[in-house]
Amino acid sequence: MFHFISAGESHGPGVVSIISGVPSGFPVSVDGINGELKRRQKGYGRVGRMAIEKDRVKIISGIRGGYTLGSPIAFLIENKDWENWAPYMNPDASVQSGREVTKPRPGHADLAGGMKYGHTDLRNVLERASARETVARTAAGALAKIILSQFKIDFIGYVISIGNVAIDPGEVSFEGRKISASNSPFSTPVPDMDDTLRGLVDKAKSKGDTLGGVVEVVATGLPPGLGGPEQWYTRLDAKLAAALMSIPAIKGVEIGDGFELSKRFGSDAQDEIYFDNFRRFYRKTNRAGGLEGGITNGEPLVLRASMKPIPTLMTPLHSVDIESKKDIDAQAERSDVMAVPAASVVAEAMTAVVLAGEFLQKFGGDNFEDISRNYENYLDRVNAY
Ligand SMILES: Cc1cc2nc3c(=O)[nH]c(=O)nc-3n(C[C@H](O)[C@H](O)[C@H](O)COP(=O)(O)O)c2cc1C
Repeated sequence: MFHFISAGESHGPGVVSIISGVPSGFPVSVDGINGELKRRQKGYGRVGRMAIEKDRVKIISGIRGGYTLGSPIAFLIENKDWENWAPYMNPDASVQSGREVTKPRPGHADLAGGMKYGHTDLRNVLERASARETVARTAAGALAKIILSQFKIDFIGYVISIGNVAIDPGEVSFEGRKISASNSPFSTPVPDMDDTLRGLVDKAKSKGDTLGGVVEVVATGLPPGLGGPEQWYTRLDAKLAAALMSIPAIKGVEIGDGFELSKRFGSDAQDEIYFDNFRRFYRKTNRAGGLEGGITNGEPLVLRASMKPIPTLMTPLHSVDIESKKDIDAQAERSDVMAVPAASVVAEAMTAVVLAGEFLQKFGGDNFEDISRNYENYLDRVNAY
């Protein structure tokens, strides 16, 4: 099954993504993967790390001549900042002093991780807990999207709020949302929001403060029947929620109309079923966000994730030094003011990773043609239902 793990510290030599369960014969372009890495780097409000990094993937294994081999795929994304950090991140015994962290930042893994692992330098925790790791997710997600694109499954992630400013995609088409999001430094699904949002982010920055927001991911072209209600862990809604919740700073996940549904009567909360010979079974609404009973129902998948404000503040919060136990200001590492557009790309990647896993498990085979045949047979059966 399509599955990835990552390794790498924020200021180490690089971040690695190892993906297993990829069948042979899928065409992969390095430019396609780099394009996704570039999308993750963009966005107004990223004043920190992203000014330094120019992420590009190095393919270490599993792809030859532009096609997957069926063997594990390994991606390396080097950290440019490593040049500045090599003496402090030395894997040898002689680590240069001067970059230790003893002032834990509220909202980060610093203090809880220090206690858990017994570290006296909290850098040993924050280096791995850093969202730099999301570059590995984005690379794996890019591969997942490439695989699913062969079956006409497409994705878009965009921002539907920053701070208290909501951005309503309204009736804008999937393609329209895609174009607006790619043209906006805030990844909004509609144009003309940039000035308002720039003002909001600039205001937060001038106060040494930060912002969060909500992202939406839509996947189109999914067949009915991915996932299943057999067990709690086979329900696709549960897998997607876990994947989105695993992204640093994501604190809430919704599927379809999510929390809003709880306020409505049942008659306004479901999607009534219709049939005609051309469309076969269809719905006029998509309140369920494409999932019923943990199974895709053939409607677009709609997911939302809320991102808390960035926890490192340039006007630092109260903390306590872990050595002296004295009151101090929390560590103020170089940091983003707002990274919601980047989170939309990571959310899209994690959605694609889960869906690629489901798809390959259901229609699995060792190579692209086997899977295509399995998929066509399945569609023939489902479309005749
Ligand atoms: C794309 C992205 C970029 C982020 N950039 C920063 C950052 O520059 N500074 C920061 O303090 N937190 C940043 N975060 C959030 C932290 O990584 C996260 O809040 C922290 O690891 C604690 O995890 P938790 O919020 O899930 O509990 C970012 C998160 C994402 C998804």
